[in-house]
Amino acid sequence: MATATATGNFTTYSLLALLILHTLSSPSTASDPVPATWPHQFHSILFMNRSGDLQKVDLWYDWPNGRNFNIIEHQLGKLYYDLEWTNGTSFVYTLDSNKECQLLYPGVGILRPNWLDGANYLGQRYMDGFLCNVWEKVEFIWYYEDVVSKRPVYWIFYSGYSAHVMTFEVGRVLEDANWQAPVYCFEENEEKKSPVIESVANVGPHGGLMKGVINSSMRL
Ligand SMILES: *[C@@H]1O[C@H](CO)[C@@H](O)[C@H](O)[C@H]1NC(C)=O
Ligand SMILES: *[C@@H]1O[C@H](CO)[C@@H](O)[C@H](O)[C@H]1NC(C)=O
Ligand SMILES: *[C@@H]1O[C@H](CO)[C@@H](O)[C@H](O)[C@H]1NC(C)=O
Repeated sequence: MATATATGNFTTYSLLALLILHTLSSPSTASDPVPATWPHQFHSILFMNRSGDLQKVDLWYDWPNGRNFNIIEHQLGKLYYDLEWTNGTSFVYTLDSNKECQLLYPGVGILRPNWLDGANYLGQRYMDGFLCNVWEKVEFIWYYEDVVSKRPVYWIFYSGYSAHVMTFEVGRVLEDANWQAPVYCFEENEEKKSPVIESVANVGPHGGLMKGVINSSMRL
C-alpha cells in the first residue's frame, strides 16, 4: 500500500517536473499577449521628444483611405504637415508665407494595422502611471500598451525618439478637405526646403517608420 502511494507520487512529480522544464525551455509561449491591431481609423495626440526637441503631433491614421497625416508642432515653434499616402508619396510642408514643401517618394507607404505582428513580448512595466504590456520589434521600436484598455501608451525608437500617447480616439476621421497638400507642392519649380523640413522629412514622428527605415516585416 505504502509502496503504491510512493510510486504514485513519484509519477506525479516526474510529470510536473517535465511540464515545468518544458515551459521553461520554450522561449516564447503561445500564451504571451500580442499587441492589439491598430484600429483602421483613429486620431491620436502624441507628445514626442527627440533628443530634447519636444513636439506635439496630431496623428490621423486612415488605413481604408490609404493615408496617414502627422501634424507636427514644435514647442513654441512652427507647424509642419507630413501627409503620407499608401502609394509611397509623402508631402512635408508648412502653410505659412514661406511656402515650403518637400515631396518624398520612399516607396514604402503607410503602416499596416497589424505592423506589430511578430513583436517579442518583454513582460509588464509601468509607463506614465499605466500598467503596460511591452514588446520589442526588430530592435527598432519598443511599444507599450495598456494592459486593461489595450490602447497604446508609449513607444520609443532605437534612436531614443519617444512618443507619449495623450489621446486615442478610435474611428475619428479627418475630413477630406484637410488632406489636400497646398498648390505649391505641385509647382514645377524647385521646391523650397528648409533644414527643419529636411529633419521632419527624414525622421517624422515615427522615427522613420514610414520613411524608408521601416523594416520589411512592417511594410505594406
Ligand atoms: C527629452 O529627452 C531627453 C533625452 O533625449 C531628456 O533629457 C529630457 O528630459 C526629455 N524631456 C522631457 C520633457 O521628457
Ligand atoms: C500618390 O497619391 C497621392 C494622392 O492621391 C498623389 O497626389 C500622388 O501624386 C501619388 N503619387 C504617385 C507617385 O502616383
Ligand atoms: C530588419 O529585420 C531584420 C531581421 O528580421 C534585422 O536583421 C534588421 O536589422 C532589421 N532592420 C532594421 C532597420 O531594423
